[in-house]
Order: sequence, then structure tokens, then C-alpha cells
Amino acid sequence: MNTSDRSQIGEMPHGRPPQTEFNDGLDYPRLGQVTFRRGTLTENQQALFDEHWPRMGTLLEDRVIDIDEWFGRSGAKTIVEIGSGTGTSTAAMAPLEADTNIIAVELYKPGLAKLLGSAVRGGIDNIRMVRGDGIEVLARMFEPESLDGIRVFFPDPWPKARHHKRRIIQSGPLNLFASRLKKGGVLHVATDHAGYTEWINELVNVEPSLEFKGWPWPECPQLTDRQVITKFEGKGLDKDHVITEYLWEKI
Ligand SMILES: C[S@@+](CC[C@H](N)C(=O)[O-])C[C@H]1O[C@@H](n2cnc3c(N)ncnc32)[C@H](O)[C@@H]1O
Repeated sequence: MNTSDRSQIGEMPHGRPPQTEFNDGLDYPRLGQVTFRRGTLTENQQALFDEHWPRMGTLLEDRVIDIDEWFGRSGAKTIVEIGSGTGTSTAAMAPLEADTNIIAVELYKPGLAKLLGSAVRGGIDNIRMVRGDGIEVLARMFEPESLDGIRVFFPDPWPKARHHKRRIIQSGPLNLFASRLKKGGVLHVATDHAGYTEWINELVNVEPSLEFKGWPWPECPQLTDRQVITKFEGKGLDKDHVITEYLWEKI
């Protein structure tokens, strides 16, 4: 199989995925070892993946996505979700925002396969997927000021102090998110991890072009109800963890 065939069915080339050097003095998480997450699909998942991934999914690469062409319509709002996991929220929210293009970005192939299955079975037309590191995907595949929303639900908390630098919510990604959002665009983050909550609380005003709106924000121009209790959130609730949600507006 040559490289282009492989990219059609969502296989990651071996080795480290591309890592952009950001020279803006801000902190960017570098994922190191965990950049490449393998995963085996069941036979059914694989068949579904082979059939639908070429239309609904793509791999991280150096190419700006033609959003209108991919979704087959023009002028619709576009929201990117980073770290969609198995896509529980993604698949539950998308039908309620059918006029919005939803692009789920995830490294974990079985998670993408699950979301793909939910979209196909549910006849949900407004979801597309990119397999790759969300930071690289945003930097390489989306133009500045091209998105109406960015969602990051329950990002990996990296609880050990020496791993905090891997947290996706920090000055660099916030700057990148802001740069990809249109004016008036929305960043929505949720976490159920107390340590991550404290960490984000310190950062809410760090990016000058993101105005912190807190939670809730009744006039928010897009859907903010995640619709479901995700697996991770469910675990958090069992342990009496508090879910904290954050909204910012690009100014
Ligand atoms: C704790 S899970 C949450 C999944 C989902 N949002 C939910 O609420 O159920 C975090 C997910 O983010 C993904 N992830 C972590 N870092 C990422 C990155 N840089 N780019 C894309 N996905 C990432 C992981 O593979 C994992 O599936």
C-alpha cells in the first residue's frame, strides 16, 4: 500500500507526527511518546471505517481543508472539537446544530471509528473527522479567523506536576485557538478535574483576544449544552467531582 492509499483509510505514518515550532514565547504542549495512539478495530468497525472514512475523515497533513467542499454546502458555521474521544457529545450535539459543520479531531482511532459508526447509523450529515494532534491540525489545516467555535471537553488532566506542561489548555494553544476563531467565535472548555480547574482558572484572562464569559452565557451564539454525561464525566460524578465549564468570545 502506498502512502496515499494508507492516508485514505486513516492509518498514521509511523514515527513522530509533524511538530510545528512556535516561536512566540508561549507554552505549547508537546506530546512526545503519546503522539501516536494505535488501536485495533473490530471487523465491523473496520468495514464501516473503510467504507466511510474516505468521505468523512482525513489525516493530519499540510493542507488547508476546504470546508465548504468537504461538507458540500457553503456559508455554514464551523466548529472544531479537539479530543472528541469516542464522540459521545459530538454525536449527541450535532443533530441539534444541523446547520453547523462539526469537525472532530482525535488521535485515538477506535474513538473515531465509534463516532463514525454513530454518525453513519444516525444519518448525521454534519460531522467530519481529522485524525491527528489538535494543535497541529489547527495550525496546519485551518486558516486564521476561519472557525465559529472550538470545543475541548474533558481534556486529559495530566495530574502529575511534571506532566502539567502537557495540558492542552495553556498560553500557546489558547493563542492558537484565538487565532483560528473568527471575531465573535466561541471557545468552550469543560473539565471535571479539580487540579485542572485550578489551572484553567489562572489562565482565563491570559489570552488578550479571548474575552472570558464564564458560565453560563445565555446569549452565547451556539449550542453549549453537551447533551450527555460522557464516560469520563460519569466517572467524575461518581467521585463527586464538580464539572466546570468555561466560555470565551474571540474579540
Ligand atoms: C479524557 S478524553 C475526553 C474525551 C471526550 N472529549 C469526552 O468528553 O468523553 C481526552 C481525549 O483527548 C484526546 N487527545 C489528547 N490530546 C489530544 C490532542 N493533542 N489532539 C487531539 N486529541 C487529543 C485523547 O486521545 C482522548 O481521547
